[in-house]
Amino acid sequence: MENGNSLMSAKPLPPKPLGLLAELTHRCPLGCPYCSNPLALDDRRSELDTTTWARVFREAAALGVLQAHLSGGEPGARRDLVEITASARAAGLYTNLITSGVGITAKRLAELKNAGLDHVQVSIQDSTASSADHIAGYDGAFARKRELANEVVRLKLPLTVNAVIHRANIDRVGDMVELALALGASRVEIAHVQYYGWALKNRARLLPTREQVDRAVGLVEDLRACHHGRIVIDAVVPDYYARYPKPCVGGWGRRSLNVTPAGKVLPCHAAESIPGLEFWSVREHTLAEIWNDSPAFNAFRGTAWMQEPCASCPRREQDFGGCRCQAFALTGDAAATDPVCHLSPRREHVTALAMVQEDAPYDYRRM
Ligand code: SF4
Ligand code: FES
Repeated sequence: MENGNSLMSAKPLPPKPLGLLAELTHRCPLGCPYCSNPLALDDRRSELDTTTWARVFREAAALGVLQAHLSGGEPGARRDLVEITASARAAGLYTNLITSGVGITAKRLAELKNAGLDHVQVSIQDSTASSADHIAGYDGAFARKRELANEVVRLKLPLTVNAVIHRANIDRVGDMVELALALGASRVEIAHVQYYGWALKNRARLLPTREQVDRAVGLVEDLRACHHGRIVIDAVVPDYYARYPKPCVGGWGRRSLNVTPAGKVLPCHAAESIPGLEFWSVREHTLAEIWNDSPAFNAFRGTAWMQEPCASCPRREQDFGGCRCQAFALTGDAAATDPVCHLSPRREHVTALAMVQEDAPYDYRRM
């Protein structure tokens, strides 16, 4: 039985996570040069099996998770995607399929719907086929995405279009919103590339200019007003041009967790880029043990780890000091203030980086 002392000294439990990103596989037919997967990809033989994913979903639901985002790579590369989806649904989770649109047939989409799939998110690379296929490094991808999006709407599944924005397509952001409308999407995410992993490798080839960003931000505001009630447009100012950083993943270890294809559990998709963090695996631990006690999840929880200027900043509970992976990538110190913040002593470095553009062929993501 607990006595008064042990109750007083008990460690408070962290907040409950809301979302789980299930990276079912790193396999993908596309080669997007901004892929958020790590440079060292998990190979097929190391992937978790169907039964383990079902256990992970049950443990996630017991922990408080409400939504499972079935992602990759391309989740359609998993032959057991229908069974995996059914197991997430059986655990009581809202299921969102995040797909490139290549590798899921109309027949399989119908099976996924019957298995309880709730929502589909399709990414698009551009508004024209030639540019979109060039960016994806895959001929015919654009046409197949359109076909899948049409099928999603025909099956009356809610559709979100994820438009990934960078220098080569930012001037067509309006056309991409129009395309999302024409496809019947209820939501479009204007997702500016975030510079980790493959995107960091291709940064100078992907970064838009300040003038492009200013034009696009103004246009998106106009489109929002013009299409109000017809489509929801989600957009934020891209990191390198922002005044404040984003509250990355809603705060480290506060809202969400990622399970990699091989079973490691990460606080965010790029966490493995930070050296010295110890990640636990669902092969050896329950999700609750990992969420509550693993060293990686506790590394940047709360505010005690913060340095100045974050430590005494009134916004520290709003943006949580920004993104740990970006802080590490740009300063070499994962506990530093995200240098995107105008209060960071390293903000000038980001401003200088944002001026470096290079027109060279992409380094495509390949396994
Ligand atoms: Fe956020 Fe830190 Fe900048 Fe304050 S100083 S706005 S907490 S990143
Ligand atoms: Fe890791 Fe932002 S991507 S904290």
